[in-house]
This record gives sequence, structure tokens and C-alpha cells, in this order.
Amino acid sequence: EIKQLALQLGATEVLFDQSLSPAQQRNLERALELPVNDRVMLILQIFAQRARSHEGKLQVELARLQYLSTRLVRRWSHLERQSGGIGMRGGPGERQIELDKRMINENIKKIKDRLVKVKKQRNTQRRQRERRDVFNISIVGYTNAGKSTLFNALTKAGTYAADQLFATLDTTSRKVHLDGVGSIVVSDTVGFIRDLPHQLVEAFRATLDETIHADLILHVIDACSPVAREQKAEVEAVLREIGADDIPRIEVMNKIDQMPQTFTEGAVLVRDSEGIPSQVFLSAKTGLGLDLLRSALAECSQMTDRIRVEQNRAKVQMA
Ligand code: GTP
Repeated sequence: EIKQLALQLGATEVLFDQSLSPAQQRNLERALELPVNDRVMLILQIFAQRARSHEGKLQVELARLQYLSTRLVRRWSHLERQSGGIGMRGGPGERQIELDKRMINENIKKIKDRLVKVKKQRNTQRRQRERRDVFNISIVGYTNAGKSTLFNALTKAGTYAADQLFATLDTTSRKVHLDGVGSIVVSDTVGFIRDLPHQLVEAFRATLDETIHADLILHVIDACSPVAREQKAEVEAVLREIGADDIPRIEVMNKIDQMPQTFTEGAVLVRDSEGIPSQVFLSAKTGLGLDLLRSALAECSQMTDRIRVEQNRAKVQMA
């Protein structure tokens, strides 16, 4: 069936929206007589194109090598069986596997060492910020929800906003002045995606460090998306996985400019049962409702300040 469809469409490659084992990939390629790739490979390729920071590039390369190392070895062992037959050891194929394996492992080790250094630098920067008691906000959301647009609107800077998946791969942080509050730091993070391959969640855990240490998380949701609910659940699952689910959160219901009038009352700030801001309906693109978000941020930052003062007082009393 797939083969017929591919023929009809004149496809030059078949992409599976799931991860395939090396054997599955090989068998499918043989049956379909076309190159076959899986979801993990596609995401890795997009990540490789989009990574901009030094750390982001290193992380993508690491994930790519780790993906490759299992596949390469199994592919070679398959060729080996074909050419050498069962029981033949030490043939040219086997030596090649060993060489390739060693080369990939050496590269993996080098990249890991470099990542450790980069991470140390970033931790130092973050600790400096924490020491200065700056209010840290981390913007998260499904890919294409409008995180960069919101980040730009809040910080009035030209980060890249594009209608494509994973336009932002790395964390970008910028200091913003909020009237009546002072400086806050806003971080734009990597876009989340459904079924993010597990090795990529691992690889990007470091990129999400800013999120784990945030005082407040802004969860941007494309309110117009027909699958907004599923996307929201995916992001929440990742937040749970990285241990960021107990950080105060405001949901930003974005793109209300695209919503039919019957579905929206315009920009609205919603509060939870305790009166704490929990949701803001706005348009990051047109700026509608940004003032509501700013005032919600100011409120949350002042609340955190009060908590910090109380915590410090408690510490002093204990001492
Ligand atoms: P990733 O970096 O892929 O995770 O995406 P992102 O969440 O940073 O999204 P980005 O800000 O790049 O926006 C994605 C697309 O949505 C762009 O085409 C934006 O112009 C558009 N967009 C963002 N906010 C709004 C909005 O309020 N209204 C409308 N109509 N479009 C918006």
C-alpha cells in the first residue's frame, strides 16, 4: 500500500512518523525500494540546521553521533554477515566497524568534555543572576506557539521569529526593565514537540536548565491550533519530566488576533481561586494584551520578592 502511494506521488523518500529500529529501517528500504528515515533522524536534521549557540550545536552533534553509533555498527554487522558468512571473524568489515566505533566514541567524549565546560560557564552566569535576586522568567511552549514573538515583544529585541518548527533551538536570555518592578530576566527556550525522541530529551535537558531554575514559567499556547489541548499536555509532560512542574506558571493563550470574535472576549487576564494570575489571552504579534501580561509579571515578581524577604528573615532567625 505504501509502495503504491509512494509511486503515485513520485516520492523519493519515505519518512515514518515514529522511530524505527535499524532492522525495521533496512527491511522497509528493501521492500519499498526507497530510502527510509524515521522521526528521530528528521528531528535531528532540523535541530542540526537550526542550532545557533555553541552549546546548542554541541548538543545536536552529540545526539547525532549517539544515534549514528548504534545504527552504523548494526548496519556494518549486517553487511559483514552478508559478505563473510556466519562464523567468519576479523574480516575487513569488522575492522572497519572497530575503527568507526572508536572514532565516533572519541568524538562523543570530546564533545561531552566541551559541553561540561560550557555548562560550567552558564551555571556561573546563572548563579550571578540569582545572587543579585533577579526575577527569572522562562518562556516555554510547543514549537511554533509564538515564544520568540512573545520574547521579542517583551524585550523589544530582534530575535528570530519564523513560521517554521524549532526556529529557536537554544536558550536566549535577556534582561528587561518592568515599570515599577525593575530588572527581570526573560529566557526563550527550545520548542517542545510531540513524542520528542527520548535521547533528544536527554540531550536538551541542559538547554532546559534555565527553565528548571526559573522563578516563573510562561507557557505559551497557540490558542488557535486545533490541537492546542494536546500540545499543552505534551509541554506539561516535559515540564514534569525535567522536574519543573512545581514552579509557578502563567499560561499565555496566544494568537487571539486570529481567533473568530465569537470565541474570544479579547485580551483577558484570568486569576485562579487564590487570585493569582494564571492565564492571559493575548496576541504577541499585534501586542494586544501585552500590558495585561506585564502587569501580571510585575505582580508575580513582587510576590516572589516578598517570599524571598520572608525566607531570608527566617534564615536570619534560625542562625
Ligand atoms: P519555535 O522556535 O519553533 O519553538 O517557535 P516559537 O514558539 O518561538 O514561535 P515563533 O515566535 O517563531 O512564532 C511562530 C509563528 O507564529 C510566526 O509566524 C509568528 O509570526 C506567528 N505568531 C506568533 N505570535 C502570533 C500572534 O499573536 N498572532 C498571530 N497571528 N501569529 C503569531
